Amino acid sequence: TAGKIAFDRALPIPALAEAGSGAAGARVFTLGIRPGETRFKDGPPTRTWGVNGTYLGPTIRARRGERVELTVRNGLDQETSLHWHGMHLPAAVDGGPHQPVPAGGVWRPRWTIDQPAATLWYHPHVHGATADHTYRGVTGLFIVDDENADALNLPSEYGVDDVPMIVQDRAFDGDNQFEQRVPLGGSLGVIGDEILVNGTIGPYFDVTTRLVRLRLLNGSNARLYNFGFSDDRSFSLIATDGGLLAEPWETTRLHLSPGERAEVVVAFRPGERVELRSYPSDHGGSLGRLDGFDDRLDICRFRAAGTLADDTELPAVLAALPDLAGEAVAEERSFVLASDRINGRPMAMDRIDFGVRGGTVEVWEVTNDNGYPHNFHVHDVRFQVLSVDDEPPGPHLRGRKDTVLLPPGRRYRLAMRFGDHTDPNVPYMYHCHLLRHEDEGMMGQFVVLGEGE
Ligand code: C2O
Ligand code: CU
Repeated sequence: TAGKIAFDRALPIPALAEAGSGAAGARVFTLGIRPGETRFKDGPPTRTWGVNGTYLGPTIRARRGERVELTVRNGLDQETSLHWHGMHLPAAVDGGPHQPVPAGGVWRPRWTIDQPAATLWYHPHVHGATADHTYRGVTGLFIVDDENADALNLPSEYGVDDVPMIVQDRAFDGDNQFEQRVPLGGSLGVIGDEILVNGTIGPYFDVTTRLVRLRLLNGSNARLYNFGFSDDRSFSLIATDGGLLAEPWETTRLHLSPGERAEVVVAFRPGERVELRSYPSDHGGSLGRLDGFDDRLDICRFRAAGTLADDTELPAVLAALPDLAGEAVAEERSFVLASDRINGRPMAMDRIDFGVRGGTVEVWEVTNDNGYPHNFHVHDVRFQVLSVDDEPPGPHLRGRKDTVLLPPGRRYRLAMRFGDHTDPNVPYMYHCHLLRHEDEGMMGQFVVLGEGE
């Protein structure tokens, strides 16, 4: 839909957030959310929001076992929040709708990183305005490292052969401002025709190594991507939302719905050029053109140097994943998504939908009973997809997930073990991550209960 892409701007790499040191070796990060102006294209600049800058935010990086302390300053003239998507942490520091940061205010969440290496991210989660605040540009990555991942000799030099890619679509109006109005008949939210990677339209990336790891985040509010390369080369999926897969999976296409992440490893030959694209998807049912499912989009060009360093390799085994399939199930629950509701009820801030017991395994059956695609995200945990319409899940769904695409009519069974952060009063969220749906009520709340609560 957009004009021919020039691929004449270098892919910017989000800065790594600088860490100060706090008490007992804690790593201290400061994030300032503020308004600004960003030049995405010729003509006037776009009014945007960013974190420590005018658009997007720095990448936070911390290791399993480390204590982190964040200072979040809200420099906007309205309340917002910052949610650590995919993080296992106490509900009181989750950054959801119950932890708003007032205009001009400061929020200081702290916790200990306690989960496997993974590509997580942060974005606002303020009640009813998550789509708006995220769309304006408040988004960044949070990379968790651990010893298992370190030992694998994967490409891991940040910005060189380990490349973060925050992929977002945006619609611009005639004054180059972000268009947020949902077109008549648009069922998913606004679908933009310009694709940004790390805040840049049509970037190129200069490849200097044979293997390159891409950390892909679908940071769009509604658009689904079906990633592939212009020459149909295969690439290896090595990690999904919650961390490494048991083994790499070779493919030529990969779907990511809003909020999902994937780490893929691509091999290049000296001197070649190839584009990362999004191909038409069949997940729209009858929606097609209107909601962007038929679009073919050019995203980023890779330009390989004449000689490529070759000192990393893709191991055959990546991680040992616990199998929850054989575990005793404490509770089964079912969730039906339709018409901006989950189980017929819209989100209510003062209603906790249920409590789960810390340390137990539950199976959640989630059904999309609707003609539109949705997805399903659960805070605090990583889940295992047990089945899709009673069939075993495909290879891309065999790792740890926190967000999963639900094409129309499908039924997924998800197993998850709840953790040790119990609090009878402060809830976690579960919701559709198409942000307009979330804002309109396709969300619910649960608490994790301790012994005797
Ligand atoms: Cu990415 Cu409840 O959010
Ligand atoms: Cu939805």
